[in-house]
Amino acid sequence: MYGIINQAIHQMVTRDHGEEVWLNIIHKSGIDVYEFRNHESYDDKYTYVLAETLAEHLKTNISEILRSLGEFWIIDVSLKKYPAMMAAGGNSFREFLFNLPKFHNRIYLSYPDLVAPEFKIYDNGDSIAVEYHSEREGLTHLMEGMLLGIIKMFDEHHALVKLEYTKSNSTFDHDLFLITWIKH
Ligand code: HEM
Repeated sequence: MYGIINQAIHQMVTRDHGEEVWLNIIHKSGIDVYEFRNHESYDDKYTYVLAETLAEHLKTNISEILRSLGEFWIIDVSLKKYPAMMAAGGNSFREFLFNLPKFHNRIYLSYPDLVAPEFKIYDNGDSIAVEYHSEREGLTHLMEGMLLGIIKMFDEHHALVKLEYTKSNSTFDHDLFLITWIKH
């Protein structure tokens, strides 16, 4: 994946725990890169090993790390680095979700080797179904964190994200999230 994702891990770790901890994570991961470059492609294993080592270090699980990274990606990376692209995604939470399938189309311009996820969005009346298709394994909770980040971005406090199934625990070739709203 492009280095921007590992840069995001670096930023999240230094923000929450300081540069010392990042150096420690790099060391424990046995990684030969300290500063990832935004537009350079790295083997996906860097991202997985960094997330795993961080989970071990913080005595939590990798799902929790990926969820935090997803939220960080939306609020602290995408909105800050690419405000215009994020604004073009829509003016409301609903609109943004329905525009997700074409979101990465514009990103190919600056990241030509992108292997982007694909999304299919369905309106079920009182819920919205978000199908997440990826060529990669194990990023379900990154996507979940991104959906939580989008909820935060629009202050959609009453929205909930429920993971219905994943491609590893179903016969489907994708993960499915249901967005519902707390009734009050
Ligand atoms: C301006 C904002 C964004 C930029 C610049 C961006 C760019 C990228 C890049 C460079 C990657 C790495 C893929 C690769 O190197 O092959 C990626 C992956 C990913 N992006 Fe985006 N993205 C943005 C917003 C979003 C949004 C709003 C979502 C919505 C949920 C999203 C979902 C994902 C997911 C789930 C992946 C993981 C890759 C996979 O599933 O295979 N991104 N994105």
